[in-house]
Amino acid sequence: MESNKILKKLDRIEQLPTLPAIAMEVNKMLQDYETSIKDLAMVIEKDQAMVPKILKLVNSSFFGFQSQISSLSRAIMLLGFNTVRNAVVSVSIIKALSIKDGSEGFNIAEFWTHSVGVAAISRYLAEKIRCQSLEDVFTAGLLHDVGKIILVQSFPDLFKRVWLSTKENNLSFYEAEKKELSINHARIGGYLAKKWKLPQNLIDVIQYHHKVRKSIRNPELLMIVHVADIIMNSYMNDLLTEIDLSVIYPDARELMKSEMETVTDWFPGVLEEIHSACQFFLEE
Ligand SMILES: [Fe+2]
Ligand SMILES: [Fe+2]
Repeated sequence: MESNKILKKLDRIEQLPTLPAIAMEVNKMLQDYETSIKDLAMVIEKDQAMVPKILKLVNSSFFGFQSQISSLSRAIMLLGFNTVRNAVVSVSIIKALSIKDGSEGFNIAEFWTHSVGVAAISRYLAEKIRCQSLEDVFTAGLLHDVGKIILVQSFPDLFKRVWLSTKENNLSFYEAEKKELSINHARIGGYLAKKWKLPQNLIDVIQYHHKVRKSIRNPELLMIVHVADIIMNSYMNDLLTEIDLSVIYPDARELMKSEMETVTDWFPGVLEEIHSACQFFLEE
């Protein structure tokens, strides 16, 4: 199937995951300069089940502020609109995309463990290199692979073909996609993220995390997630593996050189964080 056909099919699919109304509304409100803290809190409070999750998240170390904030308005005041928006988007996307294992070779718990891992590593790297967009980094890591879920859900045959190819030819998922399809999960995810009206920073990370582009608004954020993804894939199961430096974008390698050289020192600490983040996101 040609990539255009696939994207057209995506347009037509009715059961395409929709971002919950609240997250959409919050995204829209943040594009409007007139939005006040009170307005934003009111919209989020419409979903009473979501409020405690959001508060728990903004009080966690994942968003970088370990504090005791007990109301939404206060959270928005102290942490800013973007951080709270990212918390809403993260919680709602995980909820919307927690499908049952749809296909052989796909395990949703493993998928989210990978994503949470990339998020936590991204967060670590961002702090180390003093990235300017700290508030976006965890969410960007969390969502970078959403396109895979769409592939499994909406194009199970294509997913299966790629999965078989990873086994037969000993390829990474991305390499197998290149071999088998005219499209990949990054492009599909980017397409969906645009439809969801996610902020441009997040769309770019989802779309270009395997093939870094410098000509985007925030290449640093993209490079962080790109490197975190590779670290997660190399070290999750085996701390002694060497990272395949050839798959890392050269500027990213340069930017995070010392973090990559010391990865076996700091990874175990981050791994603990990954486990507690998984408990938070994957409970229920
Ligand atoms: Fe990916
Ligand atoms: Fe990934």
